[in-house]
Amino acid sequence: MQPWMSDVPATVVRVKAELRKGIPDVEARFRTLTTQLEREVAAVVQEERRGGAIPEIHYGELAGGHIAGPVGDRIRRRGCVVVRGVFPASRIASWNDQIGEYIERNRYLERQKSKVGLDRYFATLAAASPQIYSLYWSKPQVSARQSDELARVRAALNRLWRQPSTEKPAFDAARECSYADRLRRRQPGDKTLGLSPHADGGSVERWCDPGYQRVYGEVLFGDPTHYDPFDATHRISTEEIPSPAVCSVFRTFQGWTALSQQGPGDGTLQLIPIANLMGWMLLRALQPDVAPDDLCGAKAGKALPFDERWHGVAKEALVSIPRVQPGDTVWWHNDLIHAVESEHRGRSSSNVIYIGAAPLCPKNLPRQAEAFRQGKSCPDFASEDYEVDFEGRATSEDLTPLGRRQMGLEPW
Ligand SMILES: [Fe+2]
Repeated sequence: MQPWMSDVPATVVRVKAELRKGIPDVEARFRTLTTQLEREVAAVVQEERRGGAIPEIHYGELAGGHIAGPVGDRIRRRGCVVVRGVFPASRIASWNDQIGEYIERNRYLERQKSKVGLDRYFATLAAASPQIYSLYWSKPQVSARQSDELARVRAALNRLWRQPSTEKPAFDAARECSYADRLRRRQPGDKTLGLSPHADGGSVERWCDPGYQRVYGEVLFGDPTHYDPFDATHRISTEEIPSPAVCSVFRTFQGWTALSQQGPGDGTLQLIPIANLMGWMLLRALQPDVAPDDLCGAKAGKALPFDERWHGVAKEALVSIPRVQPGDTVWWHNDLIHAVESEHRGRSSSNVIYIGAAPLCPKNLPRQAEAFRQGKSCPDFASEDYEVDFEGRATSEDLTPLGRRQMGLEPW
């Protein structure tokens, strides 16, 4: 933990004052990015009318392990992509059944009632607590994480990032570090679940942490129009305030694998598909109409909120993901603003396994093997530890050679 993290409110006041003083013409560069953002919002709205702003590719197109130039450019601009047909429907149906059985056999819902309150991460987002299951180690989750299919998808997505030109790569695009996350299973008719727009992976850190200041170096001190959200150079040198359920690894993309069909209206994911929006949000908080101790609502250890009051200019670009089928996967850049629809008006449960891309690098060293062995919650999350005595949990016998390497149990 860095010294500044012990007094965040004081740091915010100090850093804001320093940035406002140190950034050349903070108001003019904000105007420049606002003009750029307005164009992007208009482009998203138009693309949405013409069939969809969120790029899509088919798994079969990734056979060579790379994404073709123009498609890659589009994904980099929109910061997200739907990769279709990663797993066959039959395999997904079996996984979905197995997870349902695992939850029932181990009476998860009864146990959950006794642990309410441990997961405070979502507490400040406007909508009520989501139907997210704090389960990490069911066999289908482990199978999906270590699958060759997702290894191929993640390697291709990792390669969209630009590596430093002079030094060695920031991360190894072809190798993943296991980062176990949870499940979403949302019932039709549900109105209690929903997450207001936010970004994960750091809130006040994006201004206060020296590593993040380098990530956004062009926005703050260079040419803001040259800022590249897919430049990997400084991304692995950021440091987050330790907090349960705030991701401390570097993810090139957050993501999930669909276990059921779901689309707009089914209580699913919404995105603002503008990859460089975060640069604008940084400067937004440094404008004179925001109080000296405020970063547009950013709070230590929480998700970074997208607040209409400050960020309304981009609101129109919040779009629902297109309808996806079981076995499709959805990916979004770690800076991207995303939300979960507040109401599920569909007819069947919308289920996903959260699996992002965390390539091997000094920031992403495997450190989940012990939690896996004991069935505990992953080190990054609230220590609810539901699965310690769950029957049917995945064990080391379920790990493939690739899974063992991703878990750090065997060298690559
Ligand atoms: Fe999120």
